[in-house]
Amino acid sequence: MRAPLLREKKSWFLLFILLFAVPVTAFTADDEALITRASQVLGPLPASMPSAENPITPEKVTLGKILFYEPRISVDGTVSCSKCHPIPLYAADGLRKSIGHNCTENPRNDPTVFNAASQISEHWIGNRTSVEDQAKQSVIGPPAFGMPSYESVEKVLRSYAQYQALFKAAFPSDKEPVTVDNFAKAVGAFERTLVTHAPLDAFLKGNKDAITAQQKKGLAAFMDQGCVGCHFSPFVGGQMYQKFGLFAPYWEYTKSKKVDEGRFAVTKSENDKYVFKVPVLRNVAMTRPYFHDGSVDKLEEAVWIMGKIQLGKDLPKEQVQDIVAFLHALTGKIPEDVMTVPLLPSLE
Ligand code: HEC
Ligand code: HEC
Repeated sequence: MRAPLLREKKSWFLLFILLFAVPVTAFTADDEALITRASQVLGPLPASMPSAENPITPEKVTLGKILFYEPRISVDGTVSCSKCHPIPLYAADGLRKSIGHNCTENPRNDPTVFNAASQISEHWIGNRTSVEDQAKQSVIGPPAFGMPSYESVEKVLRSYAQYQALFKAAFPSDKEPVTVDNFAKAVGAFERTLVTHAPLDAFLKGNKDAITAQQKKGLAAFMDQGCVGCHFSPFVGGQMYQKFGLFAPYWEYTKSKKVDEGRFAVTKSENDKYVFKVPVLRNVAMTRPYFHDGSVDKLEEAVWIMGKIQLGKDLPKEQVQDIVAFLHALTGKIPEDVMTVPLLPSLE
């Protein structure tokens, strides 16, 4: 009696599969293939960007975050890391060129510090070896804090009892913990935690609705057209140097007023003329203007220029828009604890 009923149920079930499930599986198979392909070149994003020389500890991160907001170690008392890398604005100032102490203009545009510690080096031309090296040199950097010497920075920090205690807690085995090297380590440890998770990461983990159909098209185009040849790794860049303008001089397209010789300034090798670090593209939709000199305002234009002079391709408008949509899927959420502004030590 029960067997035919069962069989009947089974046929209904089969009909259901034929009508609905087949198109659904075909669609997910595409997503599955895209996820597999993208994971090989882009994923997965780590929780932090550790370094063997400077292990991340909670004490260093706490101190580093406070120091990130400290303007009293600048020659005119107005410059802190957060002045040029404001956290709520995705840690970039939005200016063509940043402004340091006494309104000094910086030679280049400022990149975000989010995800920056993942790179082979720091700065557009790779003239800083790590985030620690970058932090240390910026306090005496003429267009940044402009302090006359490392000693002058240490003198300011040592005058605050609270800094002495915070440095002692972060570097317990040091006889004199308040040094510029430890300043750099603390700020560096803070920066090494600044990883931003974005919709792309949810998609690569298998949440197929985390990004839109257009963003999926853009991701596929980003790989098919060869952008990933340079912008690869979970951070979508930061792993190699490349000439800006492989198919034409870059300034003809960016309309830059001044030509920057790039890494040539570091190595003095002819091969490094107009060579720059391939930038990280995470949060790129939030950090205009674009390129090392901030010469281009619109992301659409930056993407089209990339196609033209890095790949020798005139990307159609629609594809540029798909790629831009994909780049928006790299906009991460700024963690709550990173957003809170710390209290600075005061003189007792
Ligand atoms: C006066 C503005 C200014 C201040 C202050 C400043 N920066 Fe920057 N920062 C810049 C500019 C401009 C660049 C790009 C320099 C270059 O490539 O030549 C940069 C680059 C960086 C980079 C490299 C990013 C990359 O992708 O290569 C890091 C990291 C960074 N800054 C962190 C910091 C920290 C930490 C502090 C505080 C100790 C700080 N900055 C203070 C303007 C500033
Ligand atoms: C041959 C290597 C290479 C390829 C291929 C390449 N890029 Fe780039 N990309 C670079 C370099 C180098 C820069 C930095 C240029 C500069 O400002 O000096 C850059 C910069 C960018 C920027 C500006 C980022 C910022 O923060 O200012 C965007 C956006 C970008 N690329 C997107 C793309 C897209 C999209 C593609 C594919 C259509 C692509 N790139 C292909 C090397 C490459």
